Amino acid sequence: MLIEKCMHINFRVNGDARGSMIVVEGEQAVPFDIKRLFYIYGTDPTVVRGKHANRKSDFVMVCVHGSCKVKITDGTNEIVVSLDDPTKGVYIPRMLWKDMYNFSEDAVLLVMASTHYNSTEYIRDFDAYCEEMRMLNGAGQN
Ligand code: TYD
Repeated sequence: MLIEKCMHINFRVNGDARGSMIVVEGEQAVPFDIKRLFYIYGTDPTVVRGKHANRKSDFVMVCVHGSCKVKITDGTNEIVVSLDDPTKGVYIPRMLWKDMYNFSEDAVLLVMASTHYNSTEYIRDFDAYCEEMRMLNGAGQN
């Protein structure tokens, strides 16, 4: 099942008397070559972001400051991951639907992606997504 490919990631902390540092290298700390990163901040706690699936992009999300939640679904099964620790991330493979919400006012959500941005790979209609997943499952490809 596709949703079972989501993974919690524990980043190794380089700590010394000066404080802490986490290094993220593509194909090492995250399971893909990182082509893009973006970060989301200043989000109102009532806002839901994401609300899409990506046909070609895999992601790792980590809340490097503050907290938020991400709900991940394949249209049938869902998991909710609390991101509230800069040492912990979640890997979300392509073709899963994701909603990010419950942002604390100080939240900074770092997102690493396996692709460059391409708006045409987004599925933004949840019903259309569910229908596509049903067809994929019916074809035994999930
Ligand atoms: P959007 O996909 O709506 O953000 P989220 O998934 O967090 O809800 O993106 C917001 C805007 O930023 C939208 O106009 C597209 C643009 N954008 C880029 O230009 N490049 C990117 O890598 C991303 C993620 C978004």
